[in-house]
Parts: sequence; C-alpha cells; structure tokens
Amino acid sequence: MTTTSAPTTAITHIAQLVTNDPSLGEGPLGLIQDAAVVIDGDRIAWVGASSKAPATDNAVDAGGRAGIPGFVDSHSHLVFAGDRTAEFNARMSGRPYSAGGIRTTVAATRAASDEALHANVARYLAEALRQGTTTQETKSGYGLTVEDEARALRIAAAHTDEVTFLGAHIVSPDYADDPAGYVDLVTGPMLDACAPHARWVDVFCEKGAFDGDQARAVLTAGKARGLVPRVHANQLGHGPGVQLAVELGAASADHCTHLSAADIDALAQSDTVATLLPGAEFSTRARWPDARPLLDAGATVALSTDCNPGSSFTSSMPFCIALAVRDMGMTPDEAVWSATAGGARALRRTDIGRIAPGARADLALLDAPSHVHLAYRPGVPLVSAVWHKGVLV
Ligand code: NIG
Ligand code: FE
Repeated sequence: MTTTSAPTTAITHIAQLVTNDPSLGEGPLGLIQDAAVVIDGDRIAWVGASSKAPATDNAVDAGGRAGIPGFVDSHSHLVFAGDRTAEFNARMSGRPYSAGGIRTTVAATRAASDEALHANVARYLAEALRQGTTTQETKSGYGLTVEDEARALRIAAAHTDEVTFLGAHIVSPDYADDPAGYVDLVTGPMLDACAPHARWVDVFCEKGAFDGDQARAVLTAGKARGLVPRVHANQLGHGPGVQLAVELGAASADHCTHLSAADIDALAQSDTVATLLPGAEFSTRARWPDARPLLDAGATVALSTDCNPGSSFTSSMPFCIALAVRDMGMTPDEAVWSATAGGARALRRTDIGRIAPGARADLALLDAPSHVHLAYRPGVPLVSAVWHKGVLV
C-alpha cells in the first residue's frame, strides 16, 4: 500500500515538557514528566506520557532533555542596516539613551540594497531560530518615506507572516520642521502603500517621538485600513501610550516600563497584552519594568527581545527570560510562559506558543532537566534541538 502522507515522528523521553495547556499536565504550564510528542506534518498530533506514545514512522529519543514550545518573539525591528556600536559605547560611559539615535539607522537603511536588507533579516532570524524562536514578529520604521517603509514591509513579509507597519517610529528627518505634515503623510499615502504588506500598525508614543493625539491619528488610520494596533508605550517615561492602546483595543502595549496604577488596572481589565522588553533596559541601562504588579493584577504579560541595533541588540529569548526572572519579579515558570504563550497572545495566535494536538509543531529541546534552567543557567546555550513547522532545523 502506498501513502502520500508525511511520516509521523515521536519525540520520546522528554524529561519534563512544558505544554502551556493545563488540561494536558500539571499547573499553568501543563507540565508532563517523561513526556512524548508526536508530530504529523507541520502539526502536533499527540502529547502524553512516553510510555503511552503511539507507534510512529520515526522516533527521536530526547535522552532526558527538557522540552518547551518554540519561543514567540512578538516584537523586533529586523529590517535595518548598519550598527550603533559607537552609541552603545557612549551609553556605557554614561550618556543616556535617546530615540534620536534612530536617525543613524534610518540613514544606513535607506542607503542599503534590498539584497543587503534581506540578508540581514535572514541572519537574525536564523540566529533567533538557533536559540529556539519559531515565530518572529518584525517591523518597518527605519525607512520613514513612503517608498522606504513599503520596501521594508515587503522585505519583512518575505521572511515572516507577522509584519508591523511602524512608519510612526520618529518624525522623519525630512519633516523635522513639520511634524504635523509627517503625521499626514503616515496616515495617508504611506499607509495606503504599506497596509497591504502588514498585519499590524504600531507607533512610538513617547516624548521625542509622537504624542497621544498623533499616536491616536496613526493607529485609527491603520485600523481603518484593516491593521490591528500595537503600541510602543511608556518606555522612557509616563505617558498616554498604555491608555491609548487599551482604548483602541491594541493587541499589545510594548515596553510598559513606567506604569501608573491606572495603567496597570487598564491593562488588567483589557485584552491588551503587556509586552515587556528587558533587552532594552539592559542595553540602555534604564530601570527594569516590574512584571509583578501586572501579573498580580491579572494582566497578560509577554516577553520579547525588541531586537534592534539601537536599544536592544539581542535576538535571544533565553537571555530575556533570565533578565525577567533576575530583575523583573517573574518566576521562571511565569517567564517561560510569557516568552511562549504570552507572545502568542500578543500576536492573537492560538496555533503557536503551546504543545497540544492541532498546534503547529514548533518546539525546542534543552540540554537541561527542566525549563527553569533557562533562568538558572544564564548565558549558556541550552537550546539543543528545534523543530519548526514539524521540521528539525
Ligand atoms: O523599541 N523605542 C523605539 N524603538 C526601538 C528603538 C529603536 C532604536 O533605538 O533604533 C525600541 O526600543
Ligand atoms: Fe521596539
């Protein structure tokens, strides 16, 4: 008998598996000891105890390593050229971070060829995949002309489905004396050219970038073209970003470093995910966002890298987990959930961020007996095997 279906694979003897499905195992992470996962094509077909695994075409023995869902990195800026080593060096000698550095990357990105930008995105996606990231959102925002923003989105869309329009990153240097004119450009011709290539619309709502009214105009114009909002909110100081995100039904408010009690309450009462980006505080030597009050109030928290050449040049979700546990009041269980299921919530996806029948077959094995080692052994490359869409990469 011939069959055209893909061979099934069982991964057995996973010392401890995080499923993020409480109906499959213990606690909020749905932990299963000595687990097995069966992959059929690009999907998970079965999850349970190793001793009960059904017969499959292929078998892989995890050899007592831990298993986790692939990381969902819901916030990055990968379409860029150049780097900002000099700015980083200056910061580490005491100069504060300023959004003005974005202009350096805008100049380098505009000058780069399509091929160079594609190669850069591919490089950082591969780097992230090796560290267990199987879903990567990425943004425009270093073009700031109609043509350069549309080009950035076309390039991003060739590499990932999770593409965000961030034409409102800073006021373009070409409009330095006419910020209102730049907002008109973004909400009109730029969105017309960009919306077909993106799923999300984002704005940097912060002093030195866009104020609450400008941010509202950008997000509302994006929504009118079918994009779903997400907001760079409350990174450098208190401001209207979080409240605006909640009011407009944004999928996430990102950064959330400076929150009032009212901001925490608004997030907790809403479906807007608070996405914390510890790489940014690490690389800008800023105060850490505090996850504890958000979690205690019942807000959904995601962790993400914010990978970009200015404020957070890391593609490593394990690094972000370690920082969140050490400095942001998260337990290792909470941080691993936020880096997987939390990221999926921030992207409004139910097919990723969990290991359960029907989910996409995205998972990683760790050279460790449990997921806790991601925080307990910081800086150690523990991710030793990654399956992405059912394929061992
Ligand atoms: O998320 N805050 C705005 N955007 C980026 C930084 C971009 C840059 O410095 O190039 C961020 O941190
Ligand atoms: Fe960002």
